[in-house]
Amino acid sequence: MRTYLVTGGAGFIGSNYIHYMFRKYGDEIRIINVDALTYAGNLKNLKGVEERANYTFIRADICDKQAIQQIFAENDIDRVVHFAAESHVDRSISNPEVFVRTNVLGTAVMLNCARAAWEQPDGTYPQGKKFLHVSTDEVYGSLEEDGGYFYETTPYAPHSPYSASKASSDFLVKSYIDTYHFPANITNCSNNYGPYQFPEKLIPLIINNALHGRKLPVYGDGRNVRDWLYVDDHAKAIDMVQEQGRPGETYNIGGHNEKQNIEIIHTILETLQEMLPEGDERKKLVSTDLITYVEDRKGHDRRYAIAPDKIKAETGWEPETMFKEGIRKTIAWYFEHEEWMADVTSGGYQKYYEEMYEGK
Ligand code: NAD
Ligand code: TYD
Repeated sequence: MRTYLVTGGAGFIGSNYIHYMFRKYGDEIRIINVDALTYAGNLKNLKGVEERANYTFIRADICDKQAIQQIFAENDIDRVVHFAAESHVDRSISNPEVFVRTNVLGTAVMLNCARAAWEQPDGTYPQGKKFLHVSTDEVYGSLEEDGGYFYETTPYAPHSPYSASKASSDFLVKSYIDTYHFPANITNCSNNYGPYQFPEKLIPLIINNALHGRKLPVYGDGRNVRDWLYVDDHAKAIDMVQEQGRPGETYNIGGHNEKQNIEIIHTILETLQEMLPEGDERKKLVSTDLITYVEDRKGHDRRYAIAPDKIKAETGWEPETMFKEGIRKTIAWYFEHEEWMADVTSGGYQKYYEEMYEGK
C-alpha cells in the first residue's frame, strides 16, 4: 500500500485533496496528514476521514526537524505532497517573517528529511518516491491587463512577501532537483475556490459578509483579475502530476477562467439571490449596496492568468468545473455549513484545539 505524507492537510486545499484522494483510491492508499493547526488549519475540514483506518493525523510544525525526521523514520513514505504554508497575501504584508519561516525554512526541512530518508548510497532514489511541492502562480508576478499568460518558462518576479517566500521555496526545490537529482515536481496553480476556504480570502469573505448584510470590501478599482479554479480540479491535477509528471518538471495549473474581482462579487450576489428561498430573511440583506471600495492592497498585482498547456499535453488534465457550477456548489456548501463558518469566524475552533492539544 502506497503511503502519502501530506503537509497542511487541515487547510483549505489540503483537506479537499485528502477527501479527493480517499474518494478516488479508498483503502488502496494510506495518508499521514501533518499539520501545525495554525489559525488556517481546522480538523473539522476532515470530518468523515478521521475514522478511517488508513488515515493518521499528526500535529507537528514543518520547521520542527526532529518531528519530521521521526515521521520519516517511523513510516515508509512513498509520496510527499507539500501544501503547508502561510497563504494569505494581506497577512504577509503586515507580518512577513512568519511567511519566511514556514514557507522557506519549513520547505527546506521537508526536503532535507525526505532526501535523508530516500537517497540511496549511490545517489539514486527507489522507484516510486516522489515529492510534490504545491506552489502558486503569484511567483511569476503580474501580467498586463491586455494580454499574455504565465508559462512554466516565465521568469519569476514575485512582489508580495507571500509570493517572494513561495518563489524562494520553489527555488529550493529546484536546487534539490539539480544538485541531488531529487525526485520532485512543482505545481504553480492559480486562485482556488470551493468548500472549506477560510473567509479571509475573497470568495468566502464575500459570501459570508453578504449573508450577514456586512460591507463587501473591494480593493482599489475592483478590476484586478484572477484566474479561478475549483479546488477539486486542483486536487485532480496534483494527483495526475504525481502519477504522470516527469521527474524534475514544473507544471502550471489554471482554470482558463479570468475574472475581475468586481465581476466575482456581482456573480456571488446574483447567485445568492437565486439560491436563497423565498421568505428567507437574508434575501433582504444581500444587495449591491453593500459593495464598498476601500484603499488598494499595497503592491497589488493587476492580473494573473495561467496557460495550462503543458499539464494538458503531458497528463491530459483539464479544468472540469465551469465557474457558474463551481460557485453554486461553493455557495451551497456554505449554506449547509453555517456552523463551520460561525466557528471559524468566532475563533471558537482555535480555543478547542488549544485545549485538546494542550502540552502535545
Ligand atoms: P491554508 O492557509 O488554507 O492552509 C495552510 C495549512 O498549512 C493549514 O492547515 C495550516 O495549519 C498549515 N500550516 C501552516 N503553517 C504550518 C507549519 N509551520 N507546519 C505545519 N503546518 C502548517 O492554505 P491553502 O489555501 O490550502 O494553500 C495550500 C497550499 O497551496 C499553499 O502552499 C499555497 O501557497 C498553495 N496555493 C494556494 C492557492 C489558493 O488559491 N489558496 C493557489 C495556489 C497555490
Ligand atoms: P485573495 O482571495 O486574497 O487571493 P490572492 O491575493 O492570493 O489573489 O484576493 C483575490 C483578489 O481579491 C485580489 O485581487 C485582492 C481582492 N480582494 C478584495 O478586493 N477584497 C477583499 O476583501 C479581499 C480579501 C481580496
